[in-house]
Amino acid sequence: MISDFKGKTAVLTGAGSGFGLECARIGAARGMNLVLVDVQQDALDAARAEMEKAGAQVLARKVDVSDAVQMEALAAAVKERFGAPHFVFNNAGVGSGGLVWENTVADWNWVLGVDLMGVVHGIRLFVPMMLEAAAKDPSYRGHVTNTASMAGLLTPPNMGIYNAAKAAVVSLTETLYQDLRLVTDQVGASLLCPYFVPTGIAASGRNRPGALADEKPTKSQIIGKAMSEKAVSSGKVTAAEVAQSVFNAMENDQFYVYSHPKALGNVKARMEGIVAGTNPADPFLERPEIGEQLRAALRSA
Ligand SMILES: NC(=O)c1ccc[n+]([C@@H]2O[C@H](COP(=O)([O-])OP(=O)(O)OC[C@H]3O[C@@H](n4cnc5c(N)ncnc54)[C@H](O)[C@@H]3O)[C@@H](O)[C@H]2O)c1
Repeated sequence: MISDFKGKTAVLTGAGSGFGLECARIGAARGMNLVLVDVQQDALDAARAEMEKAGAQVLARKVDVSDAVQMEALAAAVKERFGAPHFVFNNAGVGSGGLVWENTVADWNWVLGVDLMGVVHGIRLFVPMMLEAAAKDPSYRGHVTNTASMAGLLTPPNMGIYNAAKAAVVSLTETLYQDLRLVTDQVGASLLCPYFVPTGIAASGRNRPGALADEKPTKSQIIGKAMSEKAVSSGKVTAAEVAQSVFNAMENDQFYVYSHPKALGNVKARMEGIVAGTNPADPFLERPEIGEQLRAALRSA
């Protein structure tokens, strides 16, 4: 739980776009020092210029969050420049779709590397620093927010890698919360689970490394990309509103942060099915046409 942000330090991954950029804007407005982390140099440069203009002290680093060594260098640089951070937003993420048996090893390595291992590195490198600061100063307060997705609470078809990565982030973050409660009352945790919000996420292939290139997308991957572009671009909630919820959650010590609470009906149906032992229900119960369209597209020649 953090209530006074002035002069505190935020580490934001994926700060060049979407939720990361919007959180940086709020952080700058509240007088925070900002560590901006992204793999896309032009987006990072633009974010740095904007935040410096807004008066923030900025450390901007081009880092691939999936890379342990780059993340270790980042953590050392943060410690040297600002000391232990107060807010760590493990948020950088990418998406890739398609039928699970069609995904390549490169697809798995890319998405699990960024979406899961990026969060793992953020936790293993920054939480010990935060705990050390908490032990030294009873007034220190810190908070870690990890970005998962509603895809981590549902199992929508044709996007298995993303679902698996985000389900792991849900589990990891709930466990982080429990583990923190064992040792401190000064460091909190939140889990951000957005539904469809217009950002750059549907174009995440723009930052896919050449070594993990997408050789030849299959039909299901092409269909999945088109559907996710449509769903994301037609979302009505803005990234700025989601970022505001992230800050509110930090102030209120609220763990789960949702962009679309209405979509939780699908989560409830899934959980009830698990408890009752019934077979998995349609994850888009309120919009059965989505599943119909997908079935029709995949079964057509
Ligand atoms: N927008 C949505 O509808 C939605 C829904 C659910 C979850 N999410 C999650 O929200 C998070 C933020 O995504 P967004 O929607 O703001 O998308 P976005 O593409 O606008 O922003 C993501 C940022 O992460 C950066 N990034 C990508 N790979 C990286 C890497 N290896 N290292 C460092 N930075 C990297 C990108 O350059 C980009 O600036 C992601 O974890 C995403 O999975 C988004």
